[in-house]
Amino acid sequence: MRQYVIKGGNPLVGDVTISGAKNAALGILAAAIMSDEDVLIDNLPDVSDINVLLQAIASTGAKVVRVDRNTVKINGKSIRSYRIDDCFIRKIRASYYLLGALLGKYKEAEVSLPGGCNIGSRPIDQHLKGFKALGAHVEIENGMIMAKAEHLRARHIYLDMVSVGATINIMMAAVMAEGRTIIENAAKEPHVVDVANFLNSMGADVKGAGTDVIRIRGVQKLHGSEYTIIPDQIEAGTFMCAAVATRGDITIRKVIPKHLESISAKLEEMGAFVDEMDDSVRVVAEGRLHPTNVKTLPYPGFPTDMQPQTAIALALADGTSVVTESIFENRFKYMDELARMGARVKVEGNSAIITGIKQYKGAHVSAPDLRAGAALVIAGLAADGYTTIDGIEYIQRGYENFDGKIRSLGGCIELVEDDKDIQKFKLKIS
Ligand code: UD1
Repeated sequence: MRQYVIKGGNPLVGDVTISGAKNAALGILAAAIMSDEDVLIDNLPDVSDINVLLQAIASTGAKVVRVDRNTVKINGKSIRSYRIDDCFIRKIRASYYLLGALLGKYKEAEVSLPGGCNIGSRPIDQHLKGFKALGAHVEIENGMIMAKAEHLRARHIYLDMVSVGATINIMMAAVMAEGRTIIENAAKEPHVVDVANFLNSMGADVKGAGTDVIRIRGVQKLHGSEYTIIPDQIEAGTFMCAAVATRGDITIRKVIPKHLESISAKLEEMGAFVDEMDDSVRVVAEGRLHPTNVKTLPYPGFPTDMQPQTAIALALADGTSVVTESIFENRFKYMDELARMGARVKVEGNSAIITGIKQYKGAHVSAPDLRAGAALVIAGLAADGYTTIDGIEYIQRGYENFDGKIRSLGGCIELVEDDKDIQKFKLKIS
């Protein structure tokens, strides 16, 4: 079984370059099939979620050429099938973006219903409500969502809650609808804006992305484009927390500091020094951290995808902090794992009460999901002794070369296959 083994205790120091945003890339790759011309996308993160989505796209008959590790060329002209198989949606939930893209372009799509997920139940009623509002007939049969329309007609759509996925999916379906669609209570996350910018680069007419009202005037077709994906806000935030938890000094390069403001503000409350430059941030932490409270909210609030990494740093603060999760109901599963490393944590409803300790103790833990997995790696880096982490396939879904980047900052981490490899690692670093 693949695991990470970590010898903690080294402050992470140096420079790290952030990859393209996974969550933006998922929307952009799906949207790329909407053109019948070549679309070249770069700054693509080389992570397993992206590679699975590319396979799902290729399964429709679209041409997918991996130009290099971080660049792909897609041409949707050869698409013959509007159906995305269950095997893809099981591996990666976000293949449901192909529903909006195929429906928008061909007025027909069939995608398997995404199941539950280990961070909570994740309904897609708002996505379907949007498609129906645009005039699609939507049916669920044998676990498949079937959406079909003679014509898609623009409408005024109010989302009942702020949803990144619904905003992106409806936006894609609406770019080739007749007339002007308005999405109210839209998500404002940086990746929503990036997908809108990408659609516009193909000739779509999307205005207002980044605010809570998005206006889309339908066009008849989309042309080819060359597009660079924005840097990953969450990968950057993860390294910021790694600097803080290990009392290190990391300059995080190729970022958009504006996207990191809520994270920077929290880390400063914890006593870290954060210096924002044009396209990099430096994070330095020394001594004992201060406790503080965190509540996750839609952008520009504190991201739910940064909740575990921040909690890992707070569990080393001098006092008690409260972390409140208001987006997903089941996002504290990693707290049991953290307790194995000595953390003093108590989960009550959607809050975790965390009383800081001086240092984690290395332990054998298991990643319950992507971001919590990355957070446990940070805990291992800050711990006294050895930590082994199972379930690293979750981490590889969203972090490009995570262990390599950590090693370049002086962290002792290795991807291992078995006990023999662990022994070798221990011998190497002792
Ligand atoms: C996206 C991100 C994920 C991030 C989340 C919140 C991608 C691929 N994933 O997930 O990393 O944690 O945003 O920032 O971009 N909801 C409904 N009905 C719907 C849609 C959503 O009830 O139809 C609820 C969800 O259960 C959740 C909340 O709305 O409580 C927000 O979910 P949403 O923003 O849609 O998250 P995702 O797009 O799935």
